[in-house]
Amino acid sequence: MIDQSHSTHDAEADDRNEHIKIYVNGQIVPKAEAVVSVYDSGFMLGDGMWEGMRLYDGEWAFFDEHMDRLFNSLKSVSLEIDETPADILRILNDTAKANGMTSDAHCRLMITRGRKAKPFQHPALSRFGPTIVAIIEHSKPAESVQSDGIRLATVPQVRGLPMSQDAKYNSHSKLNCVIACLQAEQAGADEGLMLDPHGFVNTTNACNFFIVRRGEVWTSTGDYCMNGVTRQKVIDLCRNNGIIVKEKNYSLYEAYGADEAFLTGTFGAQTPVAEIDGKAIGPHQGAGPMTLRIRELYKQMVAENVAQQQATRG
Ligand SMILES: Cc1ncc(COP(=O)(O)O)c(C=O)c1O
Repeated sequence: MIDQSHSTHDAEADDRNEHIKIYVNGQIVPKAEAVVSVYDSGFMLGDGMWEGMRLYDGEWAFFDEHMDRLFNSLKSVSLEIDETPADILRILNDTAKANGMTSDAHCRLMITRGRKAKPFQHPALSRFGPTIVAIIEHSKPAESVQSDGIRLATVPQVRGLPMSQDAKYNSHSKLNCVIACLQAEQAGADEGLMLDPHGFVNTTNACNFFIVRRGEVWTSTGDYCMNGVTRQKVIDLCRNNGIIVKEKNYSLYEAYGADEAFLTGTFGAQTPVAEIDGKAIGPHQGAGPMTLRIRELYKQMVAENVAQQQATRG
């Protein structure tokens, strides 16, 4: 039984994060000076997109995949920036360098429609160019979360249909997810397990969700959840290593009766799930054998990607 509240984004305490430098629109400034206007479209309306990336040995793991998602999102909402993915890489690397970071660092790159001329919704009021911010923190996922696992509660807030606000947008506006997280907390859990509009198990408020049943790895169809980079990597590594993986509809019945469950995300890689709605998942304390195997394969995949990027840069 876990008596302490966790989140998949819990990191080991690190006082250095009080003194980091942050990139804001062309400048790398001390944290206390890293500010944007109260007229910023991101602050006012949640009108912006972000990416979370992890730094391993001087490289941003799966950088191309993150840029692919980011630029697809920006294009979809007509948020135009002058920067190319290569420029973004330079921004991130310069900021990491200014902070003396090469590993165990996590960035939140944020791009909004920028400052508005008036405090109203119309995108045309965002006249001064986009706002780009990169916060990079020293970050190691908390050991306790990896060892104890996370407690999920099924919440009333669902993942909507793509024609309302497509869950594939990694938008600044995360109110749908925040409401789900609040509901989970009120139910005494750490994170919310969200269903799709048909009642099938879909995702959590901050991560993608997998179960392991009778030797097979299952996740939702992907229709109503974030197209997580880690989610896709787990699917790929299962396929490459002879592990049966299915993207399918399944219900809470199958989730409660799973042998293992885990969450995926760039921050925590694979985080074990201890319970759902107060029901223990599987007989394991912390991660089960399939989760551990996938975690190991994922580590190898990251190492290969990092080596590849290092080789390309020469
Ligand atoms: C709602 C949600 N699900 C899942 C993820 C995990 O995505 P990734 O594996 O690309 O970090 C994120 C992270 O951005 C998210 O916000």
